Amino acid sequence: MIMNANAIKLPLEDLSIDLTFTSVPFKDQDVEGDYWTNYDQWMQEISRVTRKAICIIQSATRLNYLMQHYPPKRVMVWGKGISCYAWRWNPILVYQVSDNYKVNKYIWCDTFGVQAVQGKWKSHKYQDPELLYYTILKMFKGCEIVLDPFVGSGTTAAACQRLEKKFIGFDLDFDCCKMARKREAEHEGEMQPGTCAQAAAEPAMPAELRNKNVPLRMRSAPGKEK
Ligand SMILES: C[S@@+](CC[C@H](N)C(=O)[O-])C[C@H]1O[C@@H](n2cnc3c(N)ncnc32)[C@H](O)[C@@H]1O
Repeated sequence: MIMNANAIKLPLEDLSIDLTFTSVPFKDQDVEGDYWTNYDQWMQEISRVTRKAICIIQSATRLNYLMQHYPPKRVMVWGKGISCYAWRWNPILVYQVSDNYKVNKYIWCDTFGVQAVQGKWKSHKYQDPELLYYTILKMFKGCEIVLDPFVGSGTTAAACQRLEKKFIGFDLDFDCCKMARKREAEHEGEMQPGTCAQAAAEPAMPAELRNKNVPLRMRSAPGKEK
């Protein structure tokens, strides 16, 4: 289910979700009003509806504040690879919502080297790789109902479809909801070529994603392009 709604007021019952897995809006200009006021409202709502664990992909530039105000149980790292010339990594903050679901029991890998989605493979400006989401979601055993309150192009929806998990997604942008619904229905990932440094992710990688890998092409550094 993917709906057009604001993450500050989710139409969901308390503790009705096993795992919230999301990439929140990163930039000040991506939200209305003060970024951290919005963040407080999102976190309150996500904490209200989630009963086992929360995974939030964030910007490395926000990490200092988050460590003080929303200290996670654990931080995983998404390294984006050598062909991505800016923001080469993102922290993924993991919160344990209740002691009945101890996240450390399930996380067997903290670092993921997965090429960022680029160029023609991108249908949303913040689209993330399905392989990354698939690999992380797969670790959270027993989390069968997954929420992404910032669904964007529907990467979480596509990964959940592949893993046969029940998915609920929201986005403020109606066009994103349409795109995410289509992607979920078609059961398609972006299948971007050029995935690199897969040592950590490989055991969990489905064959159809693995077979799409092709050698990386180097890009020139920023400012050096002609
Ligand atoms: C970082 S993007 C998500 C990208 C997504 N993970 C993907 O792979 O395509 C964040 C999304 O949050 C949506 N958004 C921003 N503020 C929102 C709010 N208050 N409630 C719901 N969605 C919101 C934006 O429209 C955007 O699509």
